[in-house]
Amino acid sequence: MNNRFAVILAAGQGTRMKSKLYKVLHPVCGKPMVQHVIDHVKELKIEEIVTVIGHGAEKVQEVLGDSCEYVLQEQQLGTAHAVMQAEGALVSKKGTTLVICGDTPLIKAETMEALLSLHEDSKAKATILTAHAENPAGYGRVLRNEQGNVEKIVEHKDASAEERAVKEINTGTYCFDNEALFAALKKVSNENAQNEYYLPDVIEILKAEGEIVTAFQTEDFEETLGVNDRVALSQAEQIMKKRINEAHMRNGVTIIDPSSTYIEADVIIGRDSIIQPGSMIKGQSVIGEDCLIGPNTEISSCEIGSGTAIRQSAAYDSQIGSDVQIGPFAHIRPESDIQDEVKIGNFVEIKKAVFGKGSKASHLSYIGDAEVGQNVNIGCGSITVNYDGKKKHLTKIEDDVFIGCNSNLVAPVTIAKGAYVAAGSTITQDVPAEALSVARARQVNKEDYVKKLKFNN
Ligand code: UD1
Ligand code: CA
Repeated sequence: MNNRFAVILAAGQGTRMKSKLYKVLHPVCGKPMVQHVIDHVKELKIEEIVTVIGHGAEKVQEVLGDSCEYVLQEQQLGTAHAVMQAEGALVSKKGTTLVICGDTPLIKAETMEALLSLHEDSKAKATILTAHAENPAGYGRVLRNEQGNVEKIVEHKDASAEERAVKEINTGTYCFDNEALFAALKKVSNENAQNEYYLPDVIEILKAEGEIVTAFQTEDFEETLGVNDRVALSQAEQIMKKRINEAHMRNGVTIIDPSSTYIEADVIIGRDSIIQPGSMIKGQSVIGEDCLIGPNTEISSCEIGSGTAIRQSAAYDSQIGSDVQIGPFAHIRPESDIQDEVKIGNFVEIKKAVFGKGSKASHLSYIGDAEVGQNVNIGCGSITVNYDGKKKHLTKIEDDVFIGCNSNLVAPVTIAKGAYVAAGSTITQDVPAEALSVARARQVNKEDYVKKLKFNN
């Protein structure tokens, strides 16, 4: 097989996004759009991936890490100028170079592969990925001669009214013979409406030299959407969201209402799990089999076992075991470790706490900075008093402890194994194992007191 290289264009600022964030870093389904492009390219057999960075170079490089090589385009003088920056890395190499924009996150690896194969099987020096667009405004138009062969690409801003009527667009993805590409790039000028060096001009240059240039038109315009502004960003989000939901459904996940279910790109969900309407599952979340998520639940970067149900709740950056019941209306904050068979009921907040197997906090509790053992029962309304205004302190509740309703556990404090805390206690000292601790004022009943009050009036 031919050597294959890829150049990803990601140096532009993205003026039309009107954003502080560099365009290619805007997320689509939770992943920066350029990362989608790189991930797709990585599915192909490619020797070298070179990403051209410029605006926000450091930030882009930080996000993409060592998944590719980088070249810097100091000034953004156009897409041809951008590809030129890869000259040092690629110029003398023989093979095919795939060029793709960092703002087309929806182009699938299989489409790139089809383009590469077509290019390699033909004798063409360039093959353009094109699509039919009902509304082609903004895109470069692909102009063909009477025989139907590609002649050139004209940018929207440079096109005549007649050329603008053409609905075949340049998707910004191409395959080139590597040596022919770098030779032709030297001949590109910037005499056009935007005073930019246009990569699509390479097509006309190669044609003028008598080389063969072909096009591969995909069926699916949606896939080739270029994200230049926030309207296109929301369209990309919709398309990607549908794609992700469908992939989960094909893998055996039930999604009751895909239109109201938002699952980010890297989420993994096991078979026979059911996702109910209004749910968002984000980040690096991994959900096991037979889980029930939702309705109206947000989960971000949580690892969840199997058979767990999380209803109308929010959970962030935490571990949640198997056969756990959470919600409705619970809040699991970061760094929590909720083990198997736990029950977290309504209006319970857990923060940075270990919750041992089989333990329960069924109603109205705050458990923060705590280590809760196994088979602990935390009564309704009980809380850890973890903050003294300056520092956070640890509450330890050992196995088999019973905390009566509406207790305050003032940290640092330990309730040792098997102890009981009477309802309404404010615990400020450690409670020994198996002890009953009562820490509240004794009840006084004043006989006939109310009658006397009324008589005095
Ligand atoms: C480009 C194409 C157009 C095509 C469309 C498909 C050109 C001149 N036009 O237009 O024919 O229909 O994509 O979406 O190529 N970039 C750099 N350095 C630069 C300029 C751009 O790295 O100096 C990068 C951008 O970050 C972006 C990509 O190249 O990822 C495309 O640039 P953009 O300005 O979005 O081009 P379009 O106007 O969309
Ligand atoms: Ca674009």
